[in-house]
Amino acid sequence: MASQLFARKSLTRLLQEAEGEQRLRRVLGPVQLTALGIGAIIGTGIFVLTGVAAHDKAGPALMLSFTFAGFACIFAALCYAEFASMVPVAGSAYTYAYATLGELFAWIIGWDLVLEYAVASATVAHGWSHYFQDFISILGFKIPHALSNAPFDFHPDTGVLSTTGTMFDLPALVISMLMTIVLVIGIRESARFNGVMVVIKVAIVLFVIAVGAFYVNPSNWTPFAPYGYSGISFFGTTLVGQTGPNGEPLGMMAGAAVIFFAYIGFDAVSTQAEEARNPTRDVPIGIIVSLVLCTILYIAVAAVLTGMVRYDNINIDAPVSDAFRQVGLPWAQFLISLGALTGITSVLLVLMLSQPRILLAMARDGLVPPKFFGAVHERFRTPWKSTILTGLSVGLMGALIPLRVLAELVNIGTLLAFVIVCGAVLVMRRVNPTAARPFRCPLVPLVPLLGIGFCLILMFSLPAENWLRLAIWLLVGFGIYFLYGKRHSVLAHSGE
Ligand code: ALA
Repeated sequence: MASQLFARKSLTRLLQEAEGEQRLRRVLGPVQLTALGIGAIIGTGIFVLTGVAAHDKAGPALMLSFTFAGFACIFAALCYAEFASMVPVAGSAYTYAYATLGELFAWIIGWDLVLEYAVASATVAHGWSHYFQDFISILGFKIPHALSNAPFDFHPDTGVLSTTGTMFDLPALVISMLMTIVLVIGIRESARFNGVMVVIKVAIVLFVIAVGAFYVNPSNWTPFAPYGYSGISFFGTTLVGQTGPNGEPLGMMAGAAVIFFAYIGFDAVSTQAEEARNPTRDVPIGIIVSLVLCTILYIAVAAVLTGMVRYDNINIDAPVSDAFRQVGLPWAQFLISLGALTGITSVLLVLMLSQPRILLAMARDGLVPPKFFGAVHERFRTPWKSTILTGLSVGLMGALIPLRVLAELVNIGTLLAFVIVCGAVLVMRRVNPTAARPFRCPLVPLVPLLGIGFCLILMFSLPAENWLRLAIWLLVGFGIYFLYGKRHSVLAHSGE
């Protein structure tokens, strides 16, 4: 039994499978892959979370929070890039774990990625709805109250569930369905749609930096780190740094743990490896270029935002557009809301694109039902059934469930995936030192070890309940594996 749990899929087998039936369509080039990366990265994080991170956690040191989280991601990205060039198939971290750490780890990471893609999509759909409703209210329209929000809300501080007096969140449901249609129709169409969204949102982010820079008052950067430079906790006990009213860590690192969400998505490019024309070269380009560009933009936005408005006057709900209002440019609010809306739309598109591709890889291995999750549409060449299921789940979760509890799981789940991918690079270098690596992560073992270290620090800097929720989530995953995956594993029955 233990041998099955730790059974590894050989590289040769993975590469052979990538040539078989039920393939996706190879149409993406380096520019489209980079645009998909940017599409998944810039969204709620920069337009919304910067508010709470600057106001409550880091102050102007938010610039350093973005730098720290950016480094954690760049180390992980280099590891992703090495694997993506070696095993250019759709499963991303799930496949890398299967090739190095064995079946059980692979399953756990695949299950964990549901947090990063499907659960994050539902949170993003929810955020989209709020921005959309704000945006149409500028134009004088309004969604009926009963259809404007999920029927319940959960208050994490008190643990109380309350009713909101509404039925469901119609915009969250509609946007999820629209994205699903685009995704089912084809990867080319999805990439084109994403391209348009990315051009608009990057132009608006550049506008924020270029125009905002004229309104920076350097005295707002003092004090630079009002909550300190640390903010590291260990299972809820603050080890280094100040503690907030509810016992949560404060400081630059605590800010980094919150805004880490802003970086989530660059790894989504690796799930599109099977749709890349030249994956061994272009997927690493897509991952690294999109991440580096976004890191630079983020640090610049953090500098401008905290320079325009003193950190304790930064608005928590709409920090960027409100900063422009505060410096006397209320008209910019419309533009920034448009940037946020297009940004969040493309994040939703790319995250919802990634989830079915992970499921497709798992279905090929028999760990989830292959007839359903492995089905590729004859004409569109997309994993259409699981795309529709993902869309429905995201739409219903976004429309009905109070997502705050799950939303917090997204960061810790993604960080766990990064830690495992960095660890898997070290294992692969040892067990398969001579395999072709068209892209090699530099300075191994330093870079993967730094990736593991930085991501673990960020994980520990999150509030303690996250660990408990992650443990429960993973236990449910174990249950599903032992009830279904273990019995149906293709590798176990292949006699390899
Ligand atoms: N990075 C994505 C965002 O900030 C998930 O919305």
